[in-house]
Amino acid sequence: MIVCRTKAELKLQLSSLRKQNKSIGFVPTMGFLHEGHASLLRQAHNENDAVVLSIFVNPLQFGPNEDLDRYPRDEKRDLMLAEECGTHLVFMPSVDEMYPNKPLTSVIVSQVTDRLCGASRPGHFDGVGTVVSKLFHLAQPDRAYFGMKDAQQVAVIKQMVNDLNFHVEIVACPIVREPDGLALSSRNLYLTPEQRVQAVLLSRSLRQAEEQLTEQGMTSARLEAIVKDAINEADEAVIDYVELLQFPSLQPIDAAALLSTYKEPLLLAVAVKFGATRLIDNRIIQATEVNSYV
Ligand code: PAJ
Repeated sequence: MIVCRTKAELKLQLSSLRKQNKSIGFVPTMGFLHEGHASLLRQAHNENDAVVLSIFVNPLQFGPNEDLDRYPRDEKRDLMLAEECGTHLVFMPSVDEMYPNKPLTSVIVSQVTDRLCGASRPGHFDGVGTVVSKLFHLAQPDRAYFGMKDAQQVAVIKQMVNDLNFHVEIVACPIVREPDGLALSSRNLYLTPEQRVQAVLLSRSLRQAEEQLTEQGMTSARLEAIVKDAINEADEAVIDYVELLQFPSLQPIDAAALLSTYKEPLLLAVAVKFGATRLIDNRIIQATEVNSYV
């Protein structure tokens, strides 16, 4: 496995892969890798000749009161896990290498960023769109792998790739969970033991709501209330949002339409704060046929 810390080294290594006509699967991350990231690397390994992983904690996507400074890092462990998953090339630039000057250009995707995390974290998706565009230009991948854990991020990146004609296929991968259902996240580490027990309510409430989706007279407001009531059982949980939207357009659905046949899947998404730790989770569900997306 080759580790590149500069754009120049990456360019050199990539040109040698391309000369051999190898297809490239790309997995962008912010490091502190866990089984969720590993699942993306393994899928990329199965579907491409070479896997490129990027590890970069992108300051542009953190708000002023967010956890940029305390974002967890463990380079040595990341490299071991990356190698185990069959990664060929790791790109780990410094902030100066990625942003030698303050960028005056941003990639801003409108509409799909109006709700959910886009509403709670102003500017977050501008930072994501900008860094992912830069990384796509640098890595020039055939396919790029993103987790459905960040379903809105998948919708934003797909929109960006379509709008700006990036020659890359976006592959959305299933959410990897702990045995009790909690979605894996680098931020789970910050939960106190009590919060960790309570955090299981995120995935559990989404599952319960999905089971009740087809009940007579169900509306999006009622479904959202079911999730809110279940999460409010946890005394340390402060709900940021619970929303049922169409996926990937992230447009709202009216009550009457909930019972009609949808071509687009529905996204039921939650964000909950436990103290300073903000967790997100979601389920992709269908109005008529209850099944998972991926
Ligand atoms: P990061 O949070 O490190 O996540 C990297 C990728 O891993 C994302 O596509 C995310 O959805 C996926 N992932 C995280 N937890 C997962 C889980 N439990 N199951 C499946 N996939 C999971 O997302 C980012 O970094 C950044 O915004 C980035 C795209 C790298 C741009 O800076």
